[in-house]
Amino acid sequence: MVTALAVALLGAAIAFLATLPYEAELLHTTLARNTSLTPDARPLTPGVSPDGLPYGRSTLHFNSSGTACEAWLYTPAKWAAAGPLPVVIMAHGLGAQKDLGLHRYADAFARAGLAALLFDYRTFGGSDGEPRHWVSPRRHVEDWRAAVDFVKGGGLGPQYDTERVSLWGTSFAGGHVLVTAADLPPGAVKSIVAMVPFLDGIESAKANLRARGLPGVLRLLAAAAHDKLRAAAATALDRLGSALAPPNTDSTTATGKAQAAASAAAADSPAAAVERLLAALRPAAADAVSRLREAAAPLLTPAYVKLLGAPGELALMQLQPAEIAAYFAKHPKEYQGGWRPLVLARVGLETSSYRPTKSLERLAGLPLLFVSAAEDSLCPAALVRAAAEAAAVAAAPGGGAEYLELPCDHFSAYSGEHLEVASARMVTFLRKHFGLDEGGSAAASAQGHEAKSQREEAGAPDEARGSGADAGAAPAAQRSLEVETVEEGAGGASAREGVDENAEAAPKVEGA
Ligand SMILES: *[C@@H]1O[C@H](CO)[C@@H](O)[C@H](O)[C@H]1NC(C)=O
Ligand SMILES: *[C@@H]1O[C@H](CO)[C@@H](O)[C@H](O)[C@H]1NC(C)=O
Repeated sequence: MVTALAVALLGAAIAFLATLPYEAELLHTTLARNTSLTPDARPLTPGVSPDGLPYGRSTLHFNSSGTACEAWLYTPAKWAAAGPLPVVIMAHGLGAQKDLGLHRYADAFARAGLAALLFDYRTFGGSDGEPRHWVSPRRHVEDWRAAVDFVKGGGLGPQYDTERVSLWGTSFAGGHVLVTAADLPPGAVKSIVAMVPFLDGIESAKANLRARGLPGVLRLLAAAAHDKLRAAAATALDRLGSALAPPNTDSTTATGKAQAAASAAAADSPAAAVERLLAALRPAAADAVSRLREAAAPLLTPAYVKLLGAPGELALMQLQPAEIAAYFAKHPKEYQGGWRPLVLARVGLETSSYRPTKSLERLAGLPLLFVSAAEDSLCPAALVRAAAEAAAVAAAPGGGAEYLELPCDHFSAYSGEHLEVASARMVTFLRKHFGLDEGGSAAASAQGHEAKSQREEAGAPDEARGSGADAGAAPAAQRSLEVETVEEGAGGASAREGVDENAEAAPKVEGA
């Protein structure tokens, strides 16, 4: 009876789904995963010649909620003898994966003597998990936590330091690193780099509303609800199917015998009669559910939206042509895992309540480097700077924030001068907080970027400076925001030379 009702309800739900207007721009598919190794995903071995690659890269896996996440482990060669290597854990942003340009930053860190672990979230790249391309802040943060636990638990082996661990995240992951670190015990990570970070879902929803208008936003939300409904109906049918599957009674076990004896004794009761009737109906119901599941399968495949599109398109990110070009410029020729620029539409229902900026107050003792892009239409520089200022004011002794602003858009920090400037600054910051160098500013000027940037030292506001015992006890916190704004087109020649050198040293991995 209950079963029949449930089946009828599900049938009605599926009929309803079938009548929904199917958006031409919504793609219903089961994205196929390609497990072949792409040329850019191959392991790298350190070169023997003086100009050879000064690090190796291997592929490994760790588990997140029982699903394997794939990671590239970068191991600097010439530092390996000097004791356990500090580790930078890195991951990608929304609708990306580790082979989409992140190698260039890991490369810079490994050249500077830092190990790097760069991973794919579940359902992306080399990681397991279905349906593919499931963007979800909740799940990504779980993956981040699994990566941190893996590294701090000694999963990389004795060559890697479990104490000196820092987090690096770009775009969506720039928010995830803050959320992840806020839930770790104090001192668990040494520092955080948040590049062009996603900080506030509410702000992003407001910006979306301004850019798309209410109908545009509702369309995205309808697509998300549509995908969620399909997933819920598929899960419900699968659960019902397994609940109706013949029970695995094994009368040879002690419990099986006891149950058999008990049911024999109760065989005459009315309850037993009902039970027998249900048992008799069960195979038919199971069959009906399985047929329904099969018939409904085409209606219950996941619904994908375009990751990026022009203004007006149904796409998660609406971008200008130059931004789209910059986005694809950092990509390899062949994508790991059969990647396509599609994401499960359900993400539209999760991002507006995701507010990494709320985690900042719990990160008071932690050094933070924020890198923003002045022309960023997705994660505006003003928000990033405000977060850096808030972090600086809240900083406890030893903590504090640094802020670097690049003169480019969200996707352009992966090559040329922007990559040079940002990675050099990150290297200085990470090394300093791993205790490898003293005086980060001196190191930065040694790398030649001082001349083309305008640096200002900003103090915390006066009220923070003068108030209470904390301010007295923590003089370091009073100058805890260091701001650097890079000017457009400054000093390009030397930076471009640097990039060419990199390309020559590691021609095989360019574009990885
Ligand atoms: C799978 O990936 C490999 C390596 O990139 C590629 O050569 C192959 O064509 C892909 N297969 C399919 C079915 O896309
Ligand atoms: C992940 O889980 C699987 C299955 O439980 C196990 O065989 C494997 O060893 C685990 N991997 C790691 C790195 O812990």
